[in-house]
Amino acid sequence: MKQFFVTLLWCSVLPAAVHAQTAPALKSGEQVYRETCMACHGPGLANAPRVGDKKVWAKLNAEGQAMVTAHGWVGMRAMPPKGGRKDLSLEEFARAVAWMARGSGGNWQDPDARMLERIRGEEVKRIEQLKKAPAKG
Ligand code: HEC
Repeated sequence: MKQFFVTLLWCSVLPAAVHAQTAPALKSGEQVYRETCMACHGPGLANAPRVGDKKVWAKLNAEGQAMVTAHGWVGMRAMPPKGGRKDLSLEEFARAVAWMARGSGGNWQDPDARMLERIRGEEVKRIEQLKKAPAKG
């Protein structure tokens, strides 16, 4: 019986310990949102798509997760690049976007490797576009 509990203990503690050592400590979308994005995207400051505004997010949903995430990441009008947090990774930023979308009637998920690649592709396109026509959003 005692051995059973010892085994149980190791089964629950070990994987967590190994995980903590190997995985980079990425923030969750909700965490990033609360720390950085909520100031503007909570109240909808300066036309920031407000979390919970299903109408606005339906339009973004139609544009697609990769493009919308890339545009936010690069920055547009009053939206500062990376939400003003230069230390955020693209994956963390994209998680925050997905979290906001889910809170607004969408079903975007935390990005997998394929989605991150698509976002990078849109980022390159966006930067090219802005070089050609900087004034247009
Ligand atoms: C200083 C205010 C501010 C902060 C902080 C901010 N945003 Fe924004 N964001 C905006 C504004 C304003 C817009 C609307 C830009 C426009 O369409 O003119 C916007 C637009 C966006 C868009 C839509 C892009 C598109 O294609 O229309 C995304 C995605 C986004 N923000 C993500 C984020 C994330 C994620 C964070 C936090 C890491 C964040 N923002 C932090 C102000 C902010």
